[in-house]
Amino acid sequence: MVRFDKVSLRYGAAAPVLDDLSFHLEPGSFHFILGASGAGKSSLLQLMYLWQRPSEGRISLFGRDTRELNRHDKALMRRRIGVVFQDFRLLDHLTTLENVALPLRVAGRNRPSLDEHTAELLSWVGLGDHLHNYPPTLSGGQQQRVAIARAVIARPSLLLADEPTGNVDDRLALRLLYLFEELNKMGTTVVIATHNEALAERFRQPMIRLTGGDAPLPGDRRRTAKARQ
Ligand SMILES: Nc1ncnc2c1ncn2[C@@H]1O[C@H](COP(=O)(O)OP(=O)(O)OP(=O)(O)O)[C@@H](O)[C@H]1O
Ligand SMILES: [Mg+2]
Repeated sequence: MVRFDKVSLRYGAAAPVLDDLSFHLEPGSFHFILGASGAGKSSLLQLMYLWQRPSEGRISLFGRDTRELNRHDKALMRRRIGVVFQDFRLLDHLTTLENVALPLRVAGRNRPSLDEHTAELLSWVGLGDHLHNYPPTLSGGQQQRVAIARAVIARPSLLLADEPTGNVDDRLALRLLYLFEELNKMGTTVVIATHNEALAERFRQPMIRLTGGDAPLPGDRRRTAKARQ
């Protein structure tokens, strides 16, 4: 599903954020990406979503070398990927229901069944009373759940979620992770980036750990070693 061969990513002239990374994710697998703030979790997901290009190395998605894709190919590939961005990226001029239904509409589903299905999912994530609200009127945790519902509604082949439980309480966080597990059972390959090790450990799924990240804080004795990339 996803293959990284000796991938490095650097922004400008700075030291690489990701350095010589090789791994592959089998279709139908479920992985957590763990690492401190600044370790490169979002950067890694952005590479998988073809939002960033690697500085070196090769990334293959769905069995294809992404260096060979043109814009149209990339757009088609992205339709098979559900994504939850760390900053949500909802469309403010569309209601909750319309935001979540968008991937189904793009896939050509017709209105009545689409609205019913969307409303059901939104109720499941606790937003049944907010179907017709606009994102700017929702709390951070509510917006995050809209973003998650939008990412899963079309049952994508690959789900990339960046810190998807960062703004909700523990009970909701578990519920959202169960939602990802259900999707995974139906065949979706799931990749979740989080710095919440305790939450990830409650799920017996493999973890990819990114070392490095921000320098130790003043007075933090446990992390005196220089951050390693
Ligand atoms: N567009 C960018 N331009 C320059 N540097 C960037 C850019 N995006 C990220 N970085 C740098 O790359 C490093 C990794 O950032 P990234 O957002 O991938 O980390 P993260 O693990 O997702 O952190 P967090 O847990 O805080 O979300 C950081 O040092 C960051 O400053
Ligand atoms: Mg991040």
